[in-house]
Amino acid sequence: MTDNMAIARDRAVAVVGTGTMGQGIAQVALVAGHPVRLHDAGPGRARQAADALAGRLGRLVEKGRMTPEERDAAVARLQVADDLSGLADAALVIEAVVEALPVKRELFAELEKTVADDCLLATNTSSLSVTAVAGGLRLPGRFVGLHFFNPAPLLPLVEVVSGFATDETAATRAYDTVAAWGKTPVRCADTPGFIVNRIARPFYAEALRLYEERAADPATIDAVLRESGGFRMGPFELTDLIGQDVNEAVTRSVWESFHHDPKFTPSLAQRRLVESGRLGRKTGRGWYAYDEGAQRPVVPTEAPAPAPDKVTVHGGLGHAEPLVPMIEAAGIKVRRHRRGHHIALPGGGHLTLADGEAVFEYDGEEIVYFDLAHDYTTATRIALATAPTTSPETLQEAVGLFQALGKEVTVIGDVPGMIVARTVAMLVDLAVDAVDRGVASADDIDTAMRLGVNYPAGPFEWAARLGYETVSDLLGSLHTRYPTGRYAPCLGVVRREYEERAAMKDQESR
Ligand code: NAI
Repeated sequence: MTDNMAIARDRAVAVVGTGTMGQGIAQVALVAGHPVRLHDAGPGRARQAADALAGRLGRLVEKGRMTPEERDAAVARLQVADDLSGLADAALVIEAVVEALPVKRELFAELEKTVADDCLLATNTSSLSVTAVAGGLRLPGRFVGLHFFNPAPLLPLVEVVSGFATDETAATRAYDTVAAWGKTPVRCADTPGFIVNRIARPFYAEALRLYEERAADPATIDAVLRESGGFRMGPFELTDLIGQDVNEAVTRSVWESFHHDPKFTPSLAQRRLVESGRLGRKTGRGWYAYDEGAQRPVVPTEAPAPAPDKVTVHGGLGHAEPLVPMIEAAGIKVRRHRRGHHIALPGGGHLTLADGEAVFEYDGEEIVYFDLAHDYTTATRIALATAPTTSPETLQEAVGLFQALGKEVTVIGDVPGMIVARTVAMLVDLAVDAVDRGVASADDIDTAMRLGVNYPAGPFEWAARLGYETVSDLLGSLHTRYPTGRYAPCLGVVRREYEERAAMKDQESR
């Protein structure tokens, strides 16, 4: 086992830029026991930040999370530095000033004149290249990205970003230090959006795209991703909270940094929203209205329909297999048939898990697609897709079946990949690609997505449940139907599909 390289608690940590993030990070370092130095270029701002911090520690005392003695000791460890020379004894400097490359570069050039050569230097940038920020340094090896999430005292995730010049020792010291502060660090390479802001893009982009394709309205897409996908919030309500301008800026920045890769293409609908000033909660209106008395649009939900008395399950349902015992428990007779991957309804219709194709393509067959759920046993809503040719009787049987399992049922437009399946397939695609490009490990990506954006499961957990063949088929079908490159499965997904198949054969032959 390697030695822990965390910076000792009695060594000073300096925070430069004491706005939202700087204050949060300073609080974390202070509560962890370090002497903390605050500096800000705005006159009086560091002092204000110190006072605000003391106030926040006071509230922790009121809540019983800290003793008054601990608070007093912490406040005594907090110092305001009027200029950078006051940070000379720091063992770690974390920068959280405005998001502007020239400002950050100039600051670090000045800092390097003041601090010791072994002082670790870190930027909290969320969109600039760590390598670029370190570009002008005399000793760029000691420079890392420490990307905290807002609010820093509450959110455990910290992305530890290695730039091109970052020494392994510097990254390890930074990692061990934030871990000692009670955070959950993950390691990543210096690429656009790091882990979370890169891999989370499809969660917003696919929802916007589905809205643009008139598959469903925002309230429906939000409801399906929450109640079926298991996500804490839907993308429309979440971006209203984040700010449409802020969310779009991240999307544009990642897209531009990837040289307009179609996987990251921004949304026209979101552009219009930003242009019209409908930025979300902060302006009283975004996808939803927030003025007093404003009500959320009602999510279209199917009226009660009679449950079929029997179904035939053809082949294995894969991730949807838990539906079978649920159907039996609902008193519906289940017959099994060897071939296929669907549930046959008594009237002859087929219920099929979203696979990236559209219903209209099944000329003459009665197909109803159902969307992916994070967990079919706990999902409270299921989305169905039909084509105009689907008979009302078939739809009624499908609706009645899911209602008999205690689910609300929503019918959306006939779009390939539906809502959850399409979103999850794209999350897996970006995650696999990131691993294969050395951005981060699969475990760190899963951790980052669970902690950074509250996903019910990391992309690799999803992939393990679905299997890469399913993911690859979904993406391949989507790619055929939208041939822009956006949905083309990355090579890593296809490779894992082959590996999975080989492993299966190997098992069968034993
Ligand atoms: P903020 O606007 O709340 O605070 C920035 C502070 O930096 C201000 O107090 C300003 O006076 C000070 N400042 C500006 N130039 C300075 C200089 N040359 N030297 C010293 N102080 C200077 O900004 P916020 O939101 O705290 O963001 C700071 C950094 O953290 C940015 O790089 C941002 O991208 C990043 N970040 C922000 C997150 C957020 O949710 N707000 C999340 C993660 C990272």
